[in-house]
Formats: sequence, structure tokens, C-alpha cells
Amino acid sequence: MTEKHDVSDVPTTGHVWDDDLADLTNQPPKWWMLGLTASALFCVVYFLYYPSFPISTIGEHFKGLGGWTAIKEMEADKDEVDALRGKFEARLKDMTPSAILADDELSEYVKRSGKVLFGDNCAACHGQNGIGTHDRQGLFAPILNDDDWLYGGKIEDIHASIEGGRQGMMIAHKDILSDAEIDTLAKAVAQGQPTSTPLFAEKGCVICHGEDGRGIRAMGSANLTDKVWRFDGSIEGIRQTIAHGVNSGNPLGRVAAMPSFKASGKLSDAEIKKLAVYVYKFGGGETSAPAEAATTTPAPETEN
Ligand code: HEC
Ligand code: HEC
Repeated sequence: MTEKHDVSDVPTTGHVWDDDLADLTNQPPKWWMLGLTASALFCVVYFLYYPSFPISTIGEHFKGLGGWTAIKEMEADKDEVDALRGKFEARLKDMTPSAILADDELSEYVKRSGKVLFGDNCAACHGQNGIGTHDRQGLFAPILNDDDWLYGGKIEDIHASIEGGRQGMMIAHKDILSDAEIDTLAKAVAQGQPTSTPLFAEKGCVICHGEDGRGIRAMGSANLTDKVWRFDGSIEGIRQTIAHGVNSGNPLGRVAAMPSFKASGKLSDAEIKKLAVYVYKFGGGETSAPAEAATTTPAPETEN
């Protein structure tokens, strides 16, 4: 211990090798010692403040002097979130869906918070994010994130779809039309040119699908000119739709029913409004024409 090293003049621990290499008794630097003491103190305080060591004999644990528990912390966080949400919920309660949509802050809130609501109530049929779901017959529930709408893509249309439900009806034609007629119609429709055969008007398809075959939104009749298919778009599939209808009660017909979320009481008015905005925000929503312009220039019915 008393031996000093020739070079550094600092006492060694007595471990010297080869005269050159020695174990000196230098103190660690001050900052290091301070750090060590501080962290030891921190441990003691932390240990006493928070729940720490188990007291196995009484099947308990030391609860800590601060009274902290994970549950309390979670509840405090939840209160904070509720307070934040409550502010938005109170505001949108008395607003129309289009007013909510026009309010950047509110519509952003709905876009962020609507995922769970949509997941719980809609995704089973429409797919997560509205990508549509398929059954053996084709698209079971329509895609909601494109700009192709059966009943219209304005915020009011979407709101009405959710609130009241939708169930397009097309009668079965198997007893009205011959096989050859169904064939001709199916081929014309498959090409996106339903009006290319006079049968389309003669056999009454125009009553529901319109003179030009582009569909009538009030009844959700599909646009037959855009080659976007709700059901099977093959000639065989189209023949089946024509022969057996949609929601016609015919066992071979297509079935496509959207339940009413107001009548069933499954969703509150505020939730229905939020979902309308949420669906609109998928990106396919159409802008509502201003009230006065709508009377002079009706929006073209190009999509279905
Ligand atoms: C049981 C399945 C089912 C559920 C659940 C369901 N939908 Fe639908 N939805 C459908 C079907 C089927 C249609 C098409 C109806 C038709 O073809 O006439 C539809 C149509 C729609 C339309 C109209 C689409 C258009 O092109 O005009 C909207 C909007 C819509 N649904 C939104 C929702 C929202 C939002 C929810 C959740 C609150 C929901 N749906 C829940 C099956 C469902
Ligand atoms: C009573 C009204 C009505 C009549 C008449 C009618 N349709 Fe339809 N049709 C509909 C409705 C409504 C739909 C959409 C159903 C849905 O999506 O829920 C539809 C859907 C279709 C589809 C499916 C389109 C797709 O995207 O998969 C085809 C094809 C079709 N109709 C062809 C015809 C032809 C051809 C005729 C004439 C023989 C005809 N329809 C007569 C109401 C009608």
C-alpha cells in the first residue's frame, strides 16, 4: 500500500507487475461518486414510495408511502380521455352530419374515434375500412371506400342508408322472360351496354334501371353500364340475377339487406351521425350541391 509507483507518484495496492504495470489507489472521479450516492438514495426513496417488497408471511406486499396503484393511474388516464372526448361528443350531438363534416376538428375526431364503432357494427358485412365482403355469389355488402354508390354518396345519403337500412328489390324474371331473352339481356349487360337490345325497354328493365341503364338511386338499382358488379359479373352470374332477382324471396335469388340501425336501436343518433361522417371520410363521399344550385342544375346521375 505504501509503495509508490515511480511514474505516477500515486500509492499502489501492492500489485505491481514488471515495474511498469501497477494497480494504483486512485479515488474514482467525484462526478462518479456523486452519481453512485444519488442513485443509491433514489433507490431507497423509490422503494419506500411505490409498492415494493412482498411480505410473504401475511400474504401481502408493502403498499408504498405514495399510495400509487396501477388501477388509479389507469382511471386517471381514462378520465382525461373521457373529458377530451366529452367535449367533442357534446358539440356534435346537436349538429347535422354535414355540419360535422364541415368542421375540421370534429370530422378529424370522428375519423380517429370511429374505427371501433365501425369495427363492431359494420365491418362484419362491409369489411374493415369498407373494402367490402364477398360471399359465394359475389360482393355481399357493397364497398364503401370507393366512389361507386347504389343509394348515393352525399353525406345525407350515407346517413339515410345507415339510419333506415337498405334493401334493393329486383323481381325474378324467370317466369316473365324466355331463356333466349334472358341470354340476350345478360350478354348486353355484361358488355355494359344494356340498351343495345330493345328487350331492355320492352321487358321493363328501364322502370328500375332508368332509360339509359345507369340506375336510379332512389331505389338503389345498380348502374348497368359501368361494369362494376355488386354480384357475379360473369354472363352466367348476370343470367342468374335476371332470372331469380334480388331480395325477391326466390331461393336462388341474390340476398342483400342492410339492417336499419335506428329501428333496431343498436346505435344512438349521435353514433349514426358519426358513422356517416366516418364512412364519408373513407374518401368516396360526394359533395352536396349547394341548396339553390341543386334546383337549377341537378347533379348528373353518373355513378350508382
Ligand atoms: C348484415 C350486413 C350489414 C351490416 C351489419 C351493415 N351493412 Fe351496410 N349494407 C349491407 C348491404 C347488403 C347493403 C346493400 C343493400 C342493397 O343492395 O340494397 C348495404 C348498404 C350500405 C350503404 C349504402 C351503400 C351504397 O352504395 O349506397 C351504406 C352507406 C352502408 N351500408 C353503411 C353501413 C354502416 C355504416 C354499417 C354499420 C353501422 C353497416 N352498413 C352495416 C349490409 C350490411
Ligand atoms: C323492380 C325493379 C327492378 C327491375 C324491374 C329490374 N331490376 Fe335489376 N336491379 C334492381 C335493383 C334494386 C338492383 C340492385 C340490387 C342491390 O344491389 O341490392 C338490381 C340489380 C341488377 C343487376 C346486378 C348488377 C350488379 O352490379 O351485380 C343486374 C345484372 C340487373 N339488375 C339486371 C336487370 C335486367 C336485365 C332487368 C330487366 C329484365 C332488371 N334488372 C329489372 C331493380 C330492378
